[in-house]
Formats: sequence, structure tokens, C-alpha cells
Amino acid sequence: MTNQNYIDQLRLPIIQSPMFIVSNARLVIASSKAGIVGSFPTANCRTLEALDQEFTEITQALGSGKDALPWAVNIIVSKMYARSNDDIELILKHKPPIVITSLGNPKEVVNKVHEYGGLVYSDVINLYHSKKAISAGVDGLILVCNGAGGHTGDLSPFAFISEVRSIFDGTIIVGGSISSGDSVLAIQALGADMAYMGTRFIATEESDATEDYKQMILNASAGDIIKSNKITGVNGNWLEQSLNNAGINPNAGGIQSTISNFKKMIMPLIKQKLKVDFDVSKASAKRWKDIFSAGQGVGSISNVPSVEDLMLELEQQYKESKNRIS
Ligand SMILES: Cc1cc2nc3c(=O)[nH]c(=O)nc-3n(C[C@H](O)[C@H](O)[C@H](O)COP(=O)(O)O)c2cc1C
Repeated sequence: MTNQNYIDQLRLPIIQSPMFIVSNARLVIASSKAGIVGSFPTANCRTLEALDQEFTEITQALGSGKDALPWAVNIIVSKMYARSNDDIELILKHKPPIVITSLGNPKEVVNKVHEYGGLVYSDVINLYHSKKAISAGVDGLILVCNGAGGHTGDLSPFAFISEVRSIFDGTIIVGGSISSGDSVLAIQALGADMAYMGTRFIATEESDATEDYKQMILNASAGDIIKSNKITGVNGNWLEQSLNNAGINPNAGGIQSTISNFKKMIMPLIKQKLKVDFDVSKASAKRWKDIFSAGQGVGSISNVPSVEDLMLELEQQYKESKNRIS
């Protein structure tokens, strides 16, 4: 699988991005079979045995070696994530075509994954980390921009893409509020190669999100997304309704009161010294299960289709958008 080649074969240039608690083998398989790139984080599997099994299920469905449909696994490469080395061993065993690294220096993963012919993409939120990942030899950079679900970046894609494009000729993938075919076309116009779509896939039949979570996505618009670093220690975007349900009213009593409410609820969990989120501990899972994350692209989500039906919608939007400007 050579870099740009496989992107040209996709139905649309989209990676269904890895989502803690939400993406599972079923979503990965459905996404890759529907002509995009499915992905999941290794941290979704509580044990190494479960991860081994997840990999096996995916490779059985999507094939292996040169003929495999493209799919990706996301791994935290920081020392703070205790299972990092063991997860890498399983990656080397199952050889996913694409490995997405978060946090840390991707150098070691790049060397190992390149040995079996895989690609490595690193997610970044600023130019400093982009340069570090480029010097580690990554094949692609995932620019997580403002308005993204999960741990968000702060930069506008207008600013970030052009800065990175001027120093990097590898694959550029962009995430943050991309929930429609129009937005996929827009980031291509800005010089990116692929879209990184998370929130849109929470509201699909195949996702592991609960019905409450999916319904909240349907009801929300961009103004209902609250950015805060109080839930996990770094900036993330959260559905206001889920904060309210957890007894937190971000609008009541100003920001100081909000912070103190957050602290009351979250500190017992954070005290367990979990510096890295998306880990497999019970405390982390509880945070993401009870307080729902979503990006600002929620406003354009109005149904819970199968991934295949979603692709039909996205293709239609992409086509109409192209016609509008041609
Ligand atoms: C519920 C949720 C869980 C996430 N979990 C992870 C994760 O485990 N690893 C990761 O690298 N990114 C994670 N992300 C971030 C996404 O991979 C991606 O950057 C983001 O969803 C893109 O923005 P969008 O949601 O606006 O489309 C998560 C996002 C959400 C919404």
C-alpha cells in the first residue's frame, strides 16, 4: 500500500477517526467496507487478549497483507500509557495497514511499522509537534483543529493547513467539526488530502455509543458544545446536556463556579493520577461514558444511519457542493 495510491481508491477521502468507548471492530469493518478508512484506539480494549481478538476479527473481515482494505489503529506512544509496548507488539503481529500515534514521539513506531510496509500518521495540534513528527519520519500528519470532538486543538484549519503544507509534502489529514460532504471538499480545497471524522460516526448504527448519547448528538448544535480542560486535564469538547445531567450547569454562577463544580465531580477521579486519558482504567472509562464528548459539527447531524447509508449521504453532499462551485 503506497501512500497516496490508496487514497485515490477510496470512495471519499475520509478516516472514521478513533474514538474511545465509541469505535469498535464493527464500526471499523463497516467503514472500511463502505470505502473509507475505519479506525479504533487500542485503549478501547480492556485487556491484551481482547485487543488481540479485535485485531483478528478485523483482519479476518478486511483481509491482510497487500490486499487488505485500508484500516487504522490508534495508539498512545507516551510512557504514561502503561500498555504502550504490549500494544505495539500486537500491532507488529497483526500489521494494520495504518497506525495512528497520539502523544509522544512516534519515531520507534515509525521504524517498526515501516518494516512491515505500514504507514504511520501522527495527530498534532500545533506546528511545533508537526515538525517533531515530520523529523520522526511519519507518512502523514493529522491536524486536529478547533471544534474537534475528544481532545481538541485550538487552531483554525485555514491557518494550520497552509503552515503545515509549506513544510510537509506527505499526507495531510484534517479533523475538527467535519460532519458533511461539503466540509470534506472544503478541506481538500485548502490543500489537505483527507478528512478525519469522529462525531458524525457516533450517530451511526454501528457505533458503540448509547442511545442517550446518540439522541443528544441529534438534539445538539455547535453552541451546545463546551470546551474545557477540567474533565481530563487537557482541552476537550463536551456536550452541555451531558454536563447538566451530571449536575453541572456551566452557565450558572460564572466560570469560577463552573470550575469548582467540575472539580467537585471530577477530582476524585483525577486524583488517581491519570495523566493520560483514553486509557483502559475504570476511572477514565467512567468519565467518557457519563460525560459525552462531541465536536462542533453536531449541528449538521440529524439521523442515525448505517455507515453505508451515511456514505451515500456524504457522497451526495460532496457532489452537490462540487457542482455549486464549478
Ligand atoms: C467520543 C470521542 C472519543 C475520542 N477518542 C479518541 C481516542 O481514543 N484517540 C484519539 O486519538 N482521538 C480520539 N478522539 C478524537 C477523534 O479521533 C478526532 O480527532 C475527532 O473526533 C475529530 O473531530 P470531530 O469529532 O469534530 O469530527 C475522540 C473523539 C470523540 C468525539
